[in-house]
Amino acid sequence: MAEKKVTTATFKEMKEQGQKITMLTAYDWGTAQLLDAAGVDSLLVGDSVSMVVQGNDNSLPVTMDQMVYHTKLVARGTKRALVVGDMPFMSYQASVEEAVRNAGRFLKEAGAECVKLEGGADVCDVIQAISEAGIPAMAHIGLTPQSIHKMGGFKVQREEQRLVEDAKRVQEAGAFSVVLEGIPTPIATKITESVDIPTIGIGAGPNCDGQVLVYHDLVGLFERFTPKFVKQYAECGKTIKDAVSQFCEEVREGEFPGPEHQFEV
Ligand code: KIV
Repeated sequence: MAEKKVTTATFKEMKEQGQKITMLTAYDWGTAQLLDAAGVDSLLVGDSVSMVVQGNDNSLPVTMDQMVYHTKLVARGTKRALVVGDMPFMSYQASVEEAVRNAGRFLKEAGAECVKLEGGADVCDVIQAISEAGIPAMAHIGLTPQSIHKMGGFKVQREEQRLVEDAKRVQEAGAFSVVLEGIPTPIATKITESVDIPTIGIGAGPNCDGQVLVYHDLVGLFERFTPKFVKQYAECGKTIKDAVSQFCEEVREGEFPGPEHQFEV
């Protein structure tokens, strides 16, 4: 693991050297500090905050102001990882000019180092304008959760030709990296081999240049549902519930606070 600050150039070097890139979501200062210290290469302030923090059913409700707020907290807690601000639904769809302004807010107000936006060939004009404004853009193709209603649900994407074309087009438009979500392994492998920019997979098999997961899924803090592609490495939800019920029991039984938690006169 490189000790120096991870930049968009590091992503490129890592793909060239065959080193896998790691990315996790984070939405607050404390978590960012922990994940950064643990050595993750990139922190994505994902619009998944809408589901795992705000309790919404999908990623559509989270606003631009809320994303800027969360990104600010994460940037404050990060020393090494590349901080990616996720452009929320309707922050880049209405016009290219609005997209550039909103992308700029992530860097200027929040301290992100790049932005991510969903879409392939359909958002190339936006990717190009953002990149030309000096804002590195990470694309996101395949299962794009902001299009949940258009896709008719969270559906694995299998149109190989369109997906390979999308990846090539976002690269041409200036994207420095691309997230591949919900794509069968052979197709994701083909995409990874077809482009020079790093692919970061989520539900796209092991041959992508890197992997991203939602932090809450990885540590077992989101219990509503667990997608097939998630590996849960810890049971933090259970640990928290056990700790809290022990606290409640000890207070009710008069066991807490004990003598060691009290002040002398
Ligand atoms: O918002 C998010 O968390 C994401 C990742 C799952 C890629 O877009």
